[in-house]
Amino acid sequence: MSEMNRVTVDLGDRTYSVVVGHGTVAETASLLPEKSKRVAVVTQSGIPASLIPHFPNHQVTIHEIGIGEEHKSLTTIAALCSAFAQSGLTRNDVVVGVGGGMVTDIAGFAAASYHRGIPVVHVATSLLAMIDAAVGGKTGVNIPEGKNLVGAYWQPHGVICDLDALESLPAREMRCGLGEMAKYHFIARENLDELPFAQRVARSIEIKAEIVAADEREGGVRALLNYGHTLAHAIEIETNFAMAHGEAVALGLLFAAHLGHVMGRITSERVDEHYRVVNEVYGIDLVMPSGLVADRLIDAMGRDKKALESITFILDSAEGLEIVPGVRESDIRTALTEFVGRLTPRV
Ligand code: GLY
Repeated sequence: MSEMNRVTVDLGDRTYSVVVGHGTVAETASLLPEKSKRVAVVTQSGIPASLIPHFPNHQVTIHEIGIGEEHKSLTTIAALCSAFAQSGLTRNDVVVGVGGGMVTDIAGFAAASYHRGIPVVHVATSLLAMIDAAVGGKTGVNIPEGKNLVGAYWQPHGVICDLDALESLPAREMRCGLGEMAKYHFIARENLDELPFAQRVARSIEIKAEIVAADEREGGVRALLNYGHTLAHAIEIETNFAMAHGEAVALGLLFAAHLGHVMGRITSERVDEHYRVVNEVYGIDLVMPSGLVADRLIDAMGRDKKALESITFILDSAEGLEIVPGVRESDIRTALTEFVGRLTPRV
C-alpha cells in the first residue's frame, strides 16, 4: 500500500479515524468494534467487488439497496432493519456501508435506528462520500415533502476512503465530488491546489473533521460546510434533480461569490479566484440549466431548510466565510443577473 493518511474526528468518547489512501479497504476489519461478531454490509450493485471488504473473523451478510433517489426512503430503512433482525444482528454487531453518499446516508440511518443505534463503519467509494457524506455523522432519507428531511446524527465508528475507488468512478460522479471539494478552498482559505490530489482529499477531510469536532450538530460553524449550497439546493429542486448535487454546488459557489461582491464583502479579484478554482483547478465549466426563472429560484432559496431567518447565505469576506442572515432580495437579483451573464458563453 502507498502512503496512508489517518484523519481523526475528535468527538470525545466517540472519536474515530478516517483512513485515506490507496488500498485502504484492507484496513476496514481493523476498524470494527472489538466485541462484534456479525457484519451487515449495506451496498449497491455496481460497486466493484475489490471495494467490498473481507471480514474473515465475522459472520457476514450482504444487503443491496436500489439505485436512485426514490430508494432513499423509509421503506428501504424498514427493509434493512428487518433483514438485520432476520440475520440475527445484535446491538454488539456492526453495519458496514460500502458505496457513495446515498449508501452511507442510508446505512448510517439504518444503524442509528436498529436496536436504537448500533455501530456503523463506512467505506466511501465516491469522492463526494469521502470528503463529505461519510464523515461527520449526518444520515437520513427523503420523504415526499423534502430531501433528507428524516434522519439522525450518528457518527461512524470509522471511515475508509480507498482512493483506488476513484479510478473506476464515472466522470460525472467525479465532477460532483470535485464541486464539493472546491468549497474547501474557501472554507480553509488555503491553496489546496498546491497539494497532490491524495493529500488534497485528506486535507479536505481534515477541514471537515475540525468543523464537525467544533460543532457536531450545526449550531454555528458547521453551517459553513454549506457554502454554495443555498443556490445549489434551489437548482436541484427547480431541475427536478436533473442537475446533480455536486454540480449545483459548483454553480452555487460562483453565485455566492457574486452575491458577496454585490454586497461589498469581497473584491472582484476574489470573485475571479472562485472562477479559477471551479473552472481551472477542477475543470468544472457548467452553465445554468435552461428554463430556470429567477423568481422561482429566489422562492426556493427562501424555503431552503438551512435558512435561519429570512434568506440566509454563507458568504465570503476578507476574514473568511460568515453566516449572513437577512440578505436583501434586490442584492440576490443583481447577483443572479451578473452570475448568469458571466457564465453564458459569449458568441
Ligand atoms: N454536508 C454538510 C455537513 O456534513 O454538515
